[in-house]
Amino acid sequence: MVNFLSLSSRSCEPTRIGIFDSGVGGLTVLEELYRQLPNESILYFGDTARLPYGDRSPAEILQFVREILVWMREQGVKMVIMACNTSSALALEIVQSEFPIPILGLILPTARAAVKAGRRIGVIATPTTVASNAYRQAVLEVNSTAQVWQVGCPEFVPLVEQNRIYDAYTRTVALEYLTPLLDQKIDALIYGCTHYPHLAPVLRSLLPEGVTLIDPAVHLAAAAARELDLLGLRSCTPALLTQFYVSGDPRQFSQRSAQWLGYAPTVEKILLPRFEPSQSTYLESVD
Ligand code: DGL
Repeated sequence: MVNFLSLSSRSCEPTRIGIFDSGVGGLTVLEELYRQLPNESILYFGDTARLPYGDRSPAEILQFVREILVWMREQGVKMVIMACNTSSALALEIVQSEFPIPILGLILPTARAAVKAGRRIGVIATPTTVASNAYRQAVLEVNSTAQVWQVGCPEFVPLVEQNRIYDAYTRTVALEYLTPLLDQKIDALIYGCTHYPHLAPVLRSLLPEGVTLIDPAVHLAAAAARELDLLGLRSCTPALLTQFYVSGDPRQFSQRSAQWLGYAPTVEKILLPRFEPSQSTYLESVD
């Protein structure tokens, strides 16, 4: 069991929050963190050399997440936010027990928000997230009378990463994915992948007015704010400029993220440390 007591005694924490995703999807979470936690300094990592995560095996996802967390610990972040549903669905509980640092995921805060919007809930997510059933389980844990329909959307992440949001093809694919959920007359639709809010203009135009769109970023940022307060880790100094790192091409990431950030950030390429399973014991004992 991880003990955060030593962290809670700090009153003004100047260190960064680490957030990660496979690519530009995590920017939807970053924007929400800027809105809800304007004083927090952030370090963003995009595992662009290995995206998409959404059709990787659970073992691969766990390995990637462990490598990212080892690296983030080396950077001295005070909290890690998984801005990736696939990682949250597959690895959150395991790494929370391995790493002595607060780690937040998307699934539970989102499920709680979704059941407030109705009992007929649709989920669009990566095939790996859908196969994990994490959203169905989380929603039913909160309200056992809810009904959940999930659709895996393998084409969405490549379309977002290639910036093909307004292509006619994207609209056709979106309609195909949404049709089984519309047939079920859903009350709420969960963006079960952080890339998908980038498709909001297309998705919103295909959904009836009455369907509430649930963006995990909003609920994750609120959960992060609560956790920072609880642990006494809120920053009380103005935020530093966000640092961006990727495992793939930094220029490409900078160019692609500019449309959402409003500027082309400086992005650095890094090589993640290899994680060996024997390290988990070591990590628990490091303060
Ligand atoms: N944006 C991530 C998620 O929320 C990963 C998507 C991917 O790389 O397939 O699941």
